[in-house]
Amino acid sequence: MSEIYYVNGEFLSSKESVVPSEERGHQFGDGVYEVVRVYGGRPFLLNWHLERLDRSCKAIGVENPLSHEEWTELISEAVRRSGEEEAQVYWQVTRGIAPREHLFPQAQPSVTMTVKPLLLKASAKSSEKSLLCIPDERWANTWIKTINLLPNVIAKETAHRFGAVEALFVKSGDFTEGSSSNAWFVRGTDIYTAPANRYILPGITRRFVLQLAQEIGYTVYEQSVALDDLHSMDEVFMTSTTLEVQSIHSVVADRNKMSLLYNLPDIPAQTLLSTPEDPAEIWRSSRNNVAARLQDAFTDAVNKFRNYEEPVQ
Ligand code: PDD
Repeated sequence: MSEIYYVNGEFLSSKESVVPSEERGHQFGDGVYEVVRVYGGRPFLLNWHLERLDRSCKAIGVENPLSHEEWTELISEAVRRSGEEEAQVYWQVTRGIAPREHLFPQAQPSVTMTVKPLLLKASAKSSEKSLLCIPDERWANTWIKTINLLPNVIAKETAHRFGAVEALFVKSGDFTEGSSSNAWFVRGTDIYTAPANRYILPGITRRFVLQLAQEIGYTVYEQSVALDDLHSMDEVFMTSTTLEVQSIHSVVADRNKMSLLYNLPDIPAQTLLSTPEDPAEIWRSSRNNVAARLQDAFTDAVNKFRNYEEPVQ
């Protein structure tokens, strides 16, 4: 069992797998990425991830260097070498290595990949999970799975400093998504999640959970939920490739910065990373029936996939 590192055609040790100084992902964040979960040695929903990678590459004008068949082969080989049955595979495609210059160079795209055993879910299903509302100051193309994640890492760090598991972005008074997950809200048996427009990453888990929810018979509205309507929601949960379905127990916000959740005025340049000055719990779950049902359905689907009962995605 080992961690696997792949760089432009070679499997390397972690020490050997270094990024060249003139690599554009490193210098400009000029690239895109994907992450897939491996269950029972098989990458789950891989075709959906590969389709999203195509869209991300196209969006930034990088030619996807491998076909779906070649990606599938490379990922399978990396997983095979790792010997891991339960793992996560991250891979990046950047505009390549070239002397620093904003203009696109004549360069081959770079491909890096890691396979890591699954970190035990931060879970302990029992412990309470909260979200911290953060103004969504990201650019207007968050549908692209770019490696430019500075606002996301600052938001997640701020949330963690406050004891929350995740940041919940709010744009003009509406919830968009988490810093590395999609957000869902439940009222009765109605489920709401932000529409897959340019302001959220169209999560692969979101797409899968949406199907599961409809199969169970829930009505799913791909509609934004307003911060002002949060009080009427019974449940909140988050989804991602690494989280699967995660129930949330409370939502908190910084009372002093509530206005920024509605609009971002011309505030003076200041450090982004802050500890909330006047935190307030603005919502607490009354139950988690729907999230729990979806978690179970997700686990069933994954177990079937592990046992080759479902077609390979
Ligand atoms: N993040 N929204 C954002 C901003 C994300 O970064 C992610 C995934 C998601 C959920 O997408 P998916 O269901 O395809 O994982 C939504 C991954 C897990 C990461 O960056 O580690």
